[in-house]
Amino acid sequence: DKYPIVMVRNLLAPAQNRLLEYCNIKLWEKAEPISHDILAKWLEDAEGLVAAGNVRIDERLLAYAPKLKVIAQSAVGYDNIDVDACTRRGIPVGNTPGVLVEATADLAFGLLLCATRRIHEGWEFVRQGKWTPNQNIPFGIDLYGKVLGIVGMGRIGAAVARRARAFGMRVIYYNRNRRPDEAELGVKYASFDNLLTQADCILVLTPLSPATRGLFGWEQFGRMKSTAFFVNAARGPIVDTGALASALAANQIAYAVLDVTDPEPLPGDHPLLQLPNVLVTPHIGSATIETRTRMALLTADNLLAGLRNRPLPACVNPEVNYK
Ligand code: GLV
Ligand code: GLV
Repeated sequence: DKYPIVMVRNLLAPAQNRLLEYCNIKLWEKAEPISHDILAKWLEDAEGLVAAGNVRIDERLLAYAPKLKVIAQSAVGYDNIDVDACTRRGIPVGNTPGVLVEATADLAFGLLLCATRRIHEGWEFVRQGKWTPNQNIPFGIDLYGKVLGIVGMGRIGAAVARRARAFGMRVIYYNRNRRPDEAELGVKYASFDNLLTQADCILVLTPLSPATRGLFGWEQFGRMKSTAFFVNAARGPIVDTGALASALAANQIAYAVLDVTDPEPLPGDHPLLQLPNVLVTPHIGSATIETRTRMALLTADNLLAGLRNRPLPACVNPEVNYK
């Protein structure tokens, strides 16, 4: 007999095919996120749930899912899931750490390079036929010798630090816990306030939590250098979007680079997109073929393990993981 499961989106073919072999799947295929009501109805008999960041999983929803044994989120971040509520019901939650570290670090550092050298602006300039011998677009800045401040120094942060060091940047970081391998990484710890005032480029990689929601607001942008480049590759709500737009409009900071936004997706007519000193990409940190395939396979592994009462390979609430 196959396991009844619900998927709020499909996974890449290798993982989807593996699940099809063992599961009866209710799959949400529409572009807009599944509604609470439909999901609640679908979960009535489900033993497994493949979740995604745009669908909220909370106590109210879990009340409709009496048979649920496992939730597998196809992302490393899981701020859309009330993990405590899952733990209270003995439901292990899987995510996809580790496998997306290098891809996300590539994108974060790549965006910084793109913005500081105005690569995308240059391309736009050429494409619009404005490239003439005597005309130039505004200059960028050197990364060499600049101070990069990383907020949230997990595995992705460390991978970005390695890249930054190779480009001749000095790296400081702020994190809840200091890293024992600072010397090896060539990074120095700074208080949050010192990081804000000292960094030429600030890169956000911390998870979204009650402690980091709105961490960057009016006051924080005010403390940054007026030449600062600000990069968010973590979660949109860590930044107060209105405050950021004001800071950019007033040239209180130089530039913002966002792979994540609040709201997300960002509507095409959003005020932020009218500003000249912003670069936005559509949440593509992990979007490579290899990485998304590994994430999908790990999501399937997590789900199948839970359905079989076996330990999830990557579990965010180990106290209720299967043994
Ligand atoms: C992407 O944002 C992820 O959490 O994997
Ligand atoms: C993120 O830091 C990860 O471990 O994937």
